[in-house]
Formats: sequence, C-alpha cells, structure tokens
Amino acid sequence: MQFSKRSYVLPASPIRKLEPYLEEALSRGVKVYPLHIGQPDVETPKGYFEALKAYNGKVLSYGRSQGELKLIDKIVEYYNNIKIPLERKDVLITNGGSEALHYAMLIVCDPGDEVIIPEPFYPSYAAFIASALGNIVPITTKAEDGFHLPAKDEIAKLITSRTKAILISNPGNPTGIVYSREELESLADIAIQNNLIIIADEVYREFVYMDSPYTSLGHIDRIRDRVVIVDSISKRYSACGARIGCLVSKNEEFMSLALKYCQSRGCPPLLEQLGAAALYDTPISYIRKVNKEYRERRDILFEGLKSIPGVICKQPDGAFYIMAKLPVLDAEKFVIWMLQDFALDDETISAAPGEGFYATPGLGKSEIRMSYALQKEDLKKAVRILAEALSVYPG
Ligand SMILES: Cc1ncc(COP(=O)(O)O)c(C=O)c1O
Repeated sequence: MQFSKRSYVLPASPIRKLEPYLEEALSRGVKVYPLHIGQPDVETPKGYFEALKAYNGKVLSYGRSQGELKLIDKIVEYYNNIKIPLERKDVLITNGGSEALHYAMLIVCDPGDEVIIPEPFYPSYAAFIASALGNIVPITTKAEDGFHLPAKDEIAKLITSRTKAILISNPGNPTGIVYSREELESLADIAIQNNLIIIADEVYREFVYMDSPYTSLGHIDRIRDRVVIVDSISKRYSACGARIGCLVSKNEEFMSLALKYCQSRGCPPLLEQLGAAALYDTPISYIRKVNKEYRERRDILFEGLKSIPGVICKQPDGAFYIMAKLPVLDAEKFVIWMLQDFALDDETISAAPGEGFYATPGLGKSEIRMSYALQKEDLKKAVRILAEALSVYPG
C-alpha cells in the first residue's frame, strides 16, 4: 500500500527518535538522565488540579471551537498586562502550541511556498511545514555569533516570489537566543517590504535570564496585523500534559481562516481549559522562582560544558536548552553509543542529535541539544558523565 508522499518525507523527531535506545538502557537497569527532552520537572501550580476537581457538570460536553471564554478572558488580561492589547476575538485556544503552529503553517503555505526560519530551529517546524507542503528557507545562525541574526540585507536576499512568512522562536529552542529589539525591527521592515506574515513562537517568554527587557513581536505596533503569536501553558506553568496553547493575532483574515481549522476539530479539551484558566491566576512569585531556578540550572550546565575539552557552546539567554558542538564526527552515533554501550556507575545520559534541528544538509552533525529542565545535582552528574564518555569514546 502507498500512502501520501508528504507522510513519507515527514521528518522523525530528533528529540524522540532515540527513545527506544533509552528504554532499552532503562530495561538493563541503567539510570538515564533525560537531557533530550524539554520536560520541566517543576510542580504544576495546584490551582490547575483544584479547578479540575471543582468541575461539577454532569456531561462533559463539546465547548466553543474558539475555546472557553473563561480562559480567553484570562489570556487577554495576561497580554494586556504585558502591554500587548488584545480583545477576545484575537485569541483562539488550541491543543498546545503545537496545534497552533500546525494551523499557522496550513494557513500560510500553498504547495511549494517558502517559510524563512533561523536554523537551528525547533524540529516540529519542519514537520508542520512539510505537512503543509511548504519548504523551509533557513537563515543559518552560529554559536560563534551568539546565534544572532545576520544583517537585514542578508536575510532579504532569501526572499523569493514564493516566500510567505518568517517563523521565529523567541526565546529560541534549541539555541536559547533572545532576539534584540533591533533584530525584531529588522524582521518587521522585511515583512512590511515583502508583504509577509511573521509567526512568533513565544512559548518560552517567561524564561529569559537577561536584565534587559524582553521584546515580543507583539510589542512592535507597526506590524500589529502582520504578527501571529504562538503561545502555550506547557512551559510557563509546567503543564505540558494539559495540551493547551493558543493562536494570538490582530490579523482578522488569518484568524477567520484559523477558526475553520478549529471548527473542524470541534473544540479544545474542556476540563484542561478550566485548569488553564486557573493557572493564569498563579502569583507572579511562581514565575520569578522558576526563572531563578532555571537561570541557576543554565549556569551549571553551561559552566560544566565549557570545562569539557573540545566542547563548544554559547551561554543561552533564554528557554532551557543548550546547543553544543562536540568533538565527535557523528553526534547521533555518539548518543546511541552512550545509551547502548556506556555507563558511569550504571548511569548515562540522553541528548537530542543536532542534525534534525537544521534544514541545511550536513549542518549540526557534531552537535547535540541538551535540556536543563533537570535538578541541579542531576545536571552536575550529567556533565560528569558526558565528560567521561567523550574521553573514552572510540568513535
Ligand atoms: C519552540 C517550541 N514551540 C512550541 C512547542 C510546543 O509546545 P506545546 O505543544 O507543548 O504547547 C515547543 C515544545 O517543546 C517548543 O519548544
């Protein structure tokens, strides 16, 4: 039987594809520190579970395709507080930021259309664009330049008659980049000059470790109707399993098209939306505490990696990942070897091989992405394990 070509070309997730090796290592009794995935271990605020318990409806019915007003109002209030004025109609609730990204790509791309993305990028972008039959046009960024964007002229050279959108993750997964106001203004100029939409994936907005203020693309007034923000409670409130995110945009045409996709899937999960609405009442002290914790974890992992001979990386300013270049030719083989053949005191680590974070063939082969969503002591052990593994790796 032959299925759709797009399904065959859909890339496997580099974050999850080595999990069978991880499971096999666990079954041998080896402890594996899971640095491959961005699963926060911080407790989800209790308000979420209390809202679920308080539900006393007798029928778990369908809800609005746009999402529950109770949650939408909380999101509008949250955005107004961060100086991005919204109305109810500017928000559509989705099954995680993932569904929001998927719909955005389906709306943006006809077959063969192009989306410009700084690479390395979050690998699901490639899957969503492939399923929309679009193509990625990468802006290659490097650790040496702090993963910052090249000059505006360089980016403008990538524009063709098929270019439809620019997609950025800010703060960035996997690089930890936080784009400056100037960089975002340059993207705004390019978008205006070429009639493009900008998809701003800002699911890590609260995870910024710099003292200077964070700029959202939603803060740039002159592109108010050219920006679609992808958001989620997964990281903000450590609620990945709730699967609640949203699309935010002032572009009425985009939102009316997005609503048709939302209608076709019925509605987002009801109870989880009630839980999510309660999460938006979480005191700001929770966010501050989590931010401080992650900043300390970042320092531990970054300082640890810097001390390993041959490892090259840049201190991330946001999110909770480090993209590191290792002194190996093939990082995927190295990670598999760490899971299959290596252990230090019956412990090893998993990491995501870098190649799947790039669209340019051959890039990222020596790189891995590591998440620091783990306890500090575990991160210290993980660094020790990596250093030892690199020193004895036969590959
Ligand atoms: C950059 C980025 N965007 C979007 C998502 C999707 O998040 P979710 O679907 O859990 O809301 C993730 C998840 O890791 C991510 O790293």
